[in-house]
Amino acid sequence: MKFTKTMLAVTLACAAFTLATGPAMAQAPIVVKFAHVVAENTPKGQGALKFKEVAEKKLPGKVQVQVFPSSQLFGDAKEMEALLLGDVQFIAPSLSKFDRYTKSIQIFDLPFLFENIEAVDRFQQGKEGQGLLASMKSKGLLGLAYWHNGMKQLSTNKDQLKAPADVKGLKFRIQASDVLEAQFRALDANPQKMAFSEVYQALQTGVVDGQENTWSNIYSQKFFEVQKTIAVTNHGVIDYMVVTNAKWWDGLPADVRRGLTEAMAEATAHANKLANDLNEGDRKKIAEAGKARIQPLTKAELVPWQKVMEPVWKKFEGAIGKDLIEAAKKSNN
Ligand code: LMR
Repeated sequence: MKFTKTMLAVTLACAAFTLATGPAMAQAPIVVKFAHVVAENTPKGQGALKFKEVAEKKLPGKVQVQVFPSSQLFGDAKEMEALLLGDVQFIAPSLSKFDRYTKSIQIFDLPFLFENIEAVDRFQQGKEGQGLLASMKSKGLLGLAYWHNGMKQLSTNKDQLKAPADVKGLKFRIQASDVLEAQFRALDANPQKMAFSEVYQALQTGVVDGQENTWSNIYSQKFFEVQKTIAVTNHGVIDYMVVTNAKWWDGLPADVRRGLTEAMAEATAHANKLANDLNEGDRKKIAEAGKARIQPLTKAELVPWQKVMEPVWKKFEGAIGKDLIEAAKKSNN
């Protein structure tokens, strides 16, 4: 075959195009955004930073992870939509915030279901807990891991906070969860769903009287400065599911997906190892600050709280599933 002038021109043009764009395309890293709503010095904040560190080490030049803490990029309601739209690739909402997508995950909100964070962990790592990670795939959300924060405490702007009667008629900020709404209604209190970023101001201005959260959130958001009493109730849990956009995840090159999976495993171990100590440390700092009084409660003093909240279980048993509840109860042993 004769090599014509036209063929030569096309060959040269192709070579020039490859030179101009090839290396640039190969080098452009995949930008991965990880958005969350808490401060950096919290279990989730630290987990996200660890994920960035390990992912970028494992996938040099291939991946760039950008972490946006403190609702900087998206607040509570918006972050799920943003994930589905592809505006962010990883989020880690509290397990209470998935009830628009699945009823089963509401199990984590049932009051006094888990005795401690170890029981929560056993349930999450068991067959049922692992099953929940994939349960929202048809809605476009894929769970990759559970991250711990810790058990919830109850706080108000009142001096007295020992018995259920002490919260009667008070307004409480809650996360967007129908179970939590029912929990406060059972206490004859008035729950108000509100984004995390708005809680401090709502407490400060008296829009609400109280809230429920972990020591690390109460400390890092300064809720203790605008509350009078924090009762040590441990009545529920705030943990997270790290979720990604299922379609985006499935479309990643295999080596990138593998690297990110490994980075997620390391970040999970890191966050979960830190969670207890961070919460314990923050509880001490709150006590030392002397602003809010910490009200301890004995096992006997917690019984009336359990009794009042018991109907919440019955109300949601059908939606969550009896089998799931049984499995969770077993994790206490
Ligand atoms: C809350 O809204 O109180 C928590 O879920 C915030 C968080 O992510 O820990």
